[in-house]
Amino acid sequence: MTSPTRLRTHLAERLRTWRDAGLGRSTVDLASGQHPVVDIDGDRRLLFSSSNYLGLSHHPAVVAAAVDATRTFGTGAGGSRLTTGSTTLHRQLEEELADWLGYPDCVLFPTGYAANLSALSVLADDAVTVFSDERNHASIIDGCRSAKSAGAEVRVYPHRDMRALRGLLDARSTPHGLIVTDGVFSMDGTVAPVADIVPLAREHGCMVLVDDAHGIGTLADGRGSAAPHSPAPDVLVGTLSKALAAEGGFICADTVICELLRNRARPFIYSTASPAPTVAAALAAVRLVRSDPGLVRQLQHNVRRLTTGLGLASVAGTPIIPVPVGDERAAMALADELRREGFHVPAIRYPTVPRGRAILRVTVMATHTDAQIDALTSAVSRRQGVPADAPAQRCARGLRAPEPQPGRRRPPGR
Ligand SMILES: Cc1ncc(COP(=O)(O)O)c(C=O)c1O
Repeated sequence: MTSPTRLRTHLAERLRTWRDAGLGRSTVDLASGQHPVVDIDGDRRLLFSSSNYLGLSHHPAVVAAAVDATRTFGTGAGGSRLTTGSTTLHRQLEEELADWLGYPDCVLFPTGYAANLSALSVLADDAVTVFSDERNHASIIDGCRSAKSAGAEVRVYPHRDMRALRGLLDARSTPHGLIVTDGVFSMDGTVAPVADIVPLAREHGCMVLVDDAHGIGTLADGRGSAAPHSPAPDVLVGTLSKALAAEGGFICADTVICELLRNRARPFIYSTASPAPTVAAALAAVRLVRSDPGLVRQLQHNVRRLTTGLGLASVAGTPIIPVPVGDERAAMALADELRREGFHVPAIRYPTVPRGRAILRVTVMATHTDAQIDALTSAVSRRQGVPADAPAQRCARGLRAPEPQPGRRRPPGR
């Protein structure tokens, strides 16, 4: 028999190896909210890494809704959706999301991660092949693993490669197929070619699931990467934790799929529901996005200003802007230099991106000012050998990137 001490030694060895490879991680603890200027470790820094894209986490209407709901319903939910955790607010938010996004029904989950895990594990069994973009979010990858253990086939296609996807669809050997893709890819900000995927799926009698965690609230009129396209994906996954400034995930689909999820999705059945104040905040945020198109327009202005400033005129027009670095340690060093200059921009490394393809992942919010955006572009460009004042000058001269072309950008490194 081995002793627990030997297991501890083994675990310590694994941790050391991980850190020695430059992959160590730790939390960064903010002492303020997700504003453009934050308090981190006693320093004030410009925040360029939040998914609070519309800045709604401190909007008076969103905060008031959460406070009112706290007074009425209290803090924790006290049970899963199927026991005592569901409130009238949960039902209202499901109805509001379904109506806004154009689906007959909607189901809330405790997180977006749980929503993807639920969708893949419930919708795919041994009669289904899942076709998954190679850059899909980790929650989809874990969903695919779960689908695999339910007997589904899983085929991974190269990023946004419709020809490869068609080849895999042609070779399908199961009766049914489900194509699954991020709407906006979470690390590089590219946009899935939803307008091509849905007709291709129809041609092959397959369903489409789009996870638009980063597109909802940021693209088109706020309804995301799938909104301008018809027909719509069969299943739309979203999160309340990014532009909608709260916490929780949701799945919009037809009533059969939603009822099946309510009956079979383990994270829905066995996890405590999102607390009412969080649900109320999300509901207020959705209503604001629906009623005030200026919110998304301001974000899109800031995206254009930042990408133009960084000389990345052809990016997809999403608020996720990757600055390629490559080497993991170089990415960490660059993030550290920026930190010393007063910016918070994280380096993203393996396993979130492939080894040797580390990036700085810049995200922009509607609440950033032009001056804050220009300060970042100057600092990054100086380190990339571009004259320090070039981005600021370009912005000052009013040069703009060409209109974003969702789905048309070649991903970096391909
Ligand atoms: C594309 C994508 N899907 C799903 C999720 C998970 O959402 P949540 O944070 O609500 O669990 C994320 C979160 O980072 C994401 O980027």
